[in-house]
Amino acid sequence: MRYNGLSVVLTLLLSVIKGGEGRVVEPQSPDRTGFQVLRLQASDSDLVDTALRLADEYELNEWAELNRPDGYVDVMVNLEKKERFTRAIEDAGIVSSVMIEDVEERIKRHVTMKKRSANDNYDYDSFNVFEDIEKELKKINNTYSDIARLDIIGETFEKRNMYVLRVSKDIGPAPTKPIILIDAGIHAREWVSISTIMYIINQVVRNPSDDLYIKAFLDSYEFVFMPVLNPDGYAYTQVDRLWRKNRVYNDKSSCRGVDLNRNWDYKWGGLGTSGRPCQIDYRGPAAFSELETKAVQKWVEAYKSKILLYINFHAYGQLWMTPYGYSTDTPSNEVEMLKYSKIAVKAIKKSRGTEYRYGPVYTTIYPASSISVDWVRGAEDVPLAYTVELPDKGDHGFLTPPSEIPLIGKETWEGIRALLITLADDKGLLKTAEIIIV
Ligand SMILES: *[C@@H]1O[C@H](CO)[C@@H](O)[C@H](O)[C@H]1NC(C)=O
Ligand SMILES: [Zn+2]
Repeated sequence: MRYNGLSVVLTLLLSVIKGGEGRVVEPQSPDRTGFQVLRLQASDSDLVDTALRLADEYELNEWAELNRPDGYVDVMVNLEKKERFTRAIEDAGIVSSVMIEDVEERIKRHVTMKKRSANDNYDYDSFNVFEDIEKELKKINNTYSDIARLDIIGETFEKRNMYVLRVSKDIGPAPTKPIILIDAGIHAREWVSISTIMYIINQVVRNPSDDLYIKAFLDSYEFVFMPVLNPDGYAYTQVDRLWRKNRVYNDKSSCRGVDLNRNWDYKWGGLGTSGRPCQIDYRGPAAFSELETKAVQKWVEAYKSKILLYINFHAYGQLWMTPYGYSTDTPSNEVEMLKYSKIAVKAIKKSRGTEYRYGPVYTTIYPASSISVDWVRGAEDVPLAYTVELPDKGDHGFLTPPSEIPLIGKETWEGIRALLITLADDKGLLKTAEIIIV
């Protein structure tokens, strides 16, 4: 059960009348003046765990990004906590340095979402407001109706549409070919995931470089894009740039939002999730309690036997990861999964030198349960499922500068393109005769 708007107002009024009782109205645009992102460099796995424990102890989980293979944890601190925290870190034998000197300045410098005027074309080199993404998807639906079809699969808490764009030759009302399912934006602040999926959509639909492989892919596969899995959260990042969850009201708490990537019905409530609504990885009151995850669940369950590959975009860390996140268990076809990871990662490096690591979620970043990739692989039996942390490696973290949008888009597409070529070859799917596999 959730508060509706009225009872929230009443509860807040009552709590004000009763003298607060710890209830605070959420600040509108939080001021992060004096906030810094520190990098804790931990030379071994025990120290990484210590760094994480200390970050938790000092309640620094709002921005705490771990990269285990590279042995670092990035944490955001405010001035008040910085001194005590760095002392604790040093006492534990962990070296720290400043990654982002002034978070507020960086937010102001890099962070404007573009809002188009009525006649402008969509700008693929910018971060765009949800309404403009929506307009562009509709435009694609109308302009390329022979290969593209936009469906609405649900509605969010704040009544935004959940869109699915399907792209294939002779697109029909329902998928018939092997499905390549890609989603983005499940975590609101990871903007580059959305700009990257939009880049890929543009390549696949408009094929500006006249790539023969794209033509072959449209013959063999059906691409299914879910470009913004968390529209309410994404919209809210214009108020709070570091917002991650959706925007529901939580029962008996003034903290809003559920972490949509802890809400899937596979080992729900396990390691790496929180039962507390104020936490950034709050899993929600039950598996699939959220409208957004429920909408995707319904779609995936309807077509799961056709889904060949699933890719779930996040940022940041440059990691190409496989299930599982809930434990050290690995899928029966892990060898095959890692093979395709390697192909993608190699092609990305060839594009402009960006280096990714790959491996299972649990050992590569951290235990994380009831995540989409675990559910898709573990519950729905989709053979290939990946969760990808896009660039960078902490220089900008979540605050990707717009100049990186086309570069990250291009290299990521080249990785996926290479994977799709090999996959089609392995499965005997490439139908276009003139394509020669090299
Ligand atoms: C996409 O276009 C079809 C017509 O080709 C239309 O029926 C459908 O409503 C459109 N989808 C959306 C979400 O606008
Ligand atoms: Zn994420």
